[in-house]
Amino acid sequence: MPLFNVYPLYDVTPVSGKGVYVYDDKGAEYLDLYGGHAVISIGHAHPKYVEAISNQVAELGFYSNAIQNPLQVQLADKIEALSGCKDYELFLCNSGAEANENALKLASFKTGKSRVIAFKNGFHGRTSAAVAATDNPSIVAPINAQQAVTFLDLNDIAGVQAELEKGDVCAVILEFIQGVGGLDQGTAEFFEQVDALCKANNTLFIADEVQSGYGRSGKFFAFQHYNVTPDIISIAKGMGNGFPIGGILIHPNIEAKFGLLGTTFGGNHLACAAGLSVLEVIEDQKLIDNVNVMSEYFIKIAKTIPQIKAIKGRGLMLGLEFDFEVGDLRKRLIYENHIFTGGASNKKLIRILPPLTVRREHINMFFEALIEVLAEIEPAEELQVQKI
Ligand SMILES: Cc1ncc(COP(=O)(O)O)c(C=O)c1O
Repeated sequence: MPLFNVYPLYDVTPVSGKGVYVYDDKGAEYLDLYGGHAVISIGHAHPKYVEAISNQVAELGFYSNAIQNPLQVQLADKIEALSGCKDYELFLCNSGAEANENALKLASFKTGKSRVIAFKNGFHGRTSAAVAATDNPSIVAPINAQQAVTFLDLNDIAGVQAELEKGDVCAVILEFIQGVGGLDQGTAEFFEQVDALCKANNTLFIADEVQSGYGRSGKFFAFQHYNVTPDIISIAKGMGNGFPIGGILIHPNIEAKFGLLGTTFGGNHLACAAGLSVLEVIEDQKLIDNVNVMSEYFIKIAKTIPQIKAIKGRGLMLGLEFDFEVGDLRKRLIYENHIFTGGASNKKLIRILPPLTVRREHINMFFEALIEVLAEIEPAEELQVQKI
C-alpha cells in the first residue's frame, strides 16, 4: 500500500540518533539544528530517557483513564515545580493540535460563547477548532471553516478590543513567538493588554506554548517573559522528546467536571514516564540556562554575517532572515554539510530549533557551513566565523 503522499521529503533516512546528531542508513552523521521540528528537547536517545521508557514499558505501557495513575500526578507536580505555574491543573492528551482543540473547547464551555480571535501567520494545528484558528486557508477544509474565527494583525490592540467588546468571543489564542509563521513576536504592551482585555470581557486567554514551551524560549514558557496570566497553556512538542504527549494547564477559574474532556491514550503510563524523564533531565542538566547561553552565542555570531538581514525569535527558537528564498540554502546545508535546519511560511527564513543540549562547537559548525554555502551563492563575500 503506498503512503498517502502529503509530505515533500528530503532524501535522507535517519535510523538512529545521539544527542544533537542523527545517523542515516548509510552511517552518515547529521547535525540536527531542527530537532525534528522543535520536538527533541533533551537530545536524541538520552540514556535516562531510554532507561525510563524501557523500564516503564516492561512494567505497564498503557491502561485507560478509568484507573488511578500516579505517574500523571507526578508529571503534573513536576511541571508545576519547573514552570512555576502554581495552582493550574493538568489535562493530558497526545499532540499539540489536540491540546489546542481541548483549550478552545474548554474556553467555549466556560464562557458559553463560540467565536475565537487568532492572529495572522499563527499556527495552532490541524484538528477542527485548532485548524480553523490557523491562518492558512489551504489547510482549512470546508468542514472546519464553519467555526467562527477572526484573524487580526499581531499588535493590533484596537482590533482586539473592538472584537472582544462585541461580547461573543470565547478565546483569544496566540503564540508568544510564532513558530511555523516565521518567529515574529508581539510587543510586551500588546500581550499585556490582550491579557487585561480578556479578563475584562469574559474571554479566555490561551497561550499556545506547543513549540515555545519547555524552556525553548529561555524561560520555561515564552509567556513568562511578560506580565500575563493565561487561562489555558497548551504544551506538546518538547514535552516528550519525541514520545507523543501533549497537555493543557488550566487555571483554577475553570472548574473541572466529569466528562468535560476525555481521551483514550492521553496521559498513558509510557507517555508519563517519557514526560517525567524529560523534565528530570531539563532540571539536572540545567538546560534552560544552556538555552540562554547558547542563544546569546548564536546571536552574536549571526550578527557578524552581513547576508543575515534579521535575527528573529528568542532562546533556541531562532530565525535567520535573508533577502532571498532559502530553499536551496537549506538543501545544500543538508546534502553538502549534513546539517538539518527548519523552514517557515516566510520563505526567506531559516529556523533554528536544536535540542536544548546544543553546545558552542555545534553552533560553530553551523556558521562555518553557512558561510561556505553563502560564499557559493554570493562568491564576492569573504567571510570567516568569528568565534566569540
Ligand atoms: C505553535 C504550534 N501549535 C500547535 C501545533 C500542532 O502540534 P501537533 O503537530 O503536535 O498537532 C504546532 C506544530 O507545529 C505548533 O507549532
